[in-house]
Amino acid sequence: MKGPLNRRSFLRISALTGAFMGIPSLGLGGKTPDIEELLDRISATPSPSGQSVIGLTVPPIKQVRVGIIGLGMRGSGMTKLIDALCPDKAKIVAICDLQEKYTSRTLEALKKNNQNPAVYKGDPNAWKEMVKRDDIDLVFIFTHWDVHVEMAVESMRQGKHVAVEVPAAITLEEAWQMVNTAEETQRNCIMLENCCYGSEELWLLNMARQGVFGNLTYGEAAYIHDLRSLMLDHSYYNQWRIRHHVKHDANLYPTHGLGPVSQYMEIDRGDRFEYLVSMSSPSVSLAEYSKKMDYSNEFYNRNDFIHGDMNTSLIKTAKGRMIHLYHDVVTPRPYSRNNCLAGTGGYHEGYPSRLALDGKDSHRWLPDNEYKEMRAKYDHPIWTRLKAEIEKYGGHGGMDFVEIYRVIDNLNRGIQLDMDVYDAASWSVVYPLSEISVQLGSVPVKFPDFTRGRWKEPRKLQILLD
Ligand SMILES: NC(=O)c1ccc[n+]([C@@H]2O[C@H](COP(=O)([O-])OP(=O)(O)OC[C@H]3O[C@@H](n4cnc5c(N)ncnc54)[C@H](O)[C@@H]3O)[C@@H](O)[C@H]2O)c1
Repeated sequence: MKGPLNRRSFLRISALTGAFMGIPSLGLGGKTPDIEELLDRISATPSPSGQSVIGLTVPPIKQVRVGIIGLGMRGSGMTKLIDALCPDKAKIVAICDLQEKYTSRTLEALKKNNQNPAVYKGDPNAWKEMVKRDDIDLVFIFTHWDVHVEMAVESMRQGKHVAVEVPAAITLEEAWQMVNTAEETQRNCIMLENCCYGSEELWLLNMARQGVFGNLTYGEAAYIHDLRSLMLDHSYYNQWRIRHHVKHDANLYPTHGLGPVSQYMEIDRGDRFEYLVSMSSPSVSLAEYSKKMDYSNEFYNRNDFIHGDMNTSLIKTAKGRMIHLYHDVVTPRPYSRNNCLAGTGGYHEGYPSRLALDGKDSHRWLPDNEYKEMRAKYDHPIWTRLKAEIEKYGGHGGMDFVEIYRVIDNLNRGIQLDMDVYDAASWSVVYPLSEISVQLGSVPVKFPDFTRGRWKEPRKLQILLD
């Protein structure tokens, strides 16, 4: 076998749980697949089973009737923001969670705003009954990663639009299933990448589109967030998050940093992700931390975590640009999404936000007054327009409110949503692709083209058209 790949690599790749599932036309006529052939098939495009949903609009929905699945840490907070838009723009028709304590807590809160949604609870399949209802337009999915696509696909099949938390999909098969179902049903399937609505991110997006950065060359994106205690205590339902660290060594949570950088670079709207390479550091932090747990904790004193403390992936785009993507949720270090963007006209670095511009003293960051001038000139107007609501309702500094507002308001007005199912698939699929690359010694792994060739068409994001 050629290059760094050998029989051992093949055996390891065969063992990748689900990572290769969903590769189109894997039927190889009984012959032992060559690993390079398998890698090629990752990026093969299956025949479409419906029409593209690029630019999809649906008739205005004056009051969006909402069903919500998952009322845990994220779902309870987001439900408050949806409630803030009721009854003028939305109505919460039904809520669902496995756990009764969460449905009753949410119901009580909603009743204060004169809402009385139907409640589905106590059974892992109760949501299926909920999405069958004929009085729901949009299903929000705030459950854990493993069930996102199953819930999204069934909701679309039942005629509902879908807004699903990040990452939308965690296998290639799921990503294609989500895209194909949206195309078959002509329903919206938006991934709730709230960081695309951050005021810093929208400001950078505006500047990138208006040419401040000149020709874009590279970006940096990250999810760096010390989640050790959250993952090991019982905050998450059934400790779902840490289970991924036992089974997968990959960039498990790519989209918070990557979503905005993809929008700066017009991914799937003129450029596309072509391939990635990925590498992980040793996995040590969780094993050490697990010693601090109580004996009764399933993860007490474990040493079978395989997820490297830091995963770094490099993504190459069709236009030759590069994105450096980090994932670390176990090192004691401050939160960051990096949010870097470089071009011939300037450079931005986040955490804290700093800007350097060509034509100024580019060896130094812009002084405070000039930075503020740039903010005033290029800030996205939605943050001014919704200032009072953002201050009142917040959610990660306000971006959660802006996100929910845009999903509902765009449907109210019958205009396209700000992100589509292709964004959801392209950004999420970094999880399985980086896993394959890590396992095979950082080999390049090509992205599938979920748009089936339409990424070449320049398209303006709806958030920039209003
Ligand atoms: N965008 C963001 O900033 C952000 C922040 C936090 C979490 N998230 C995402 O939100 C999602 C949920 O995370 P979380 O922190 O709320 O987790 P969580 O464990 O607190 O909540 C998950 C909820 O889903 C419920 N659930 C599980 N299976 C179910 C089923 N079959 N039917 C009905 N309910 C079911 C659980 O009972 C629980 O209440 C994840 O995808 C996560 O990545 C996003």
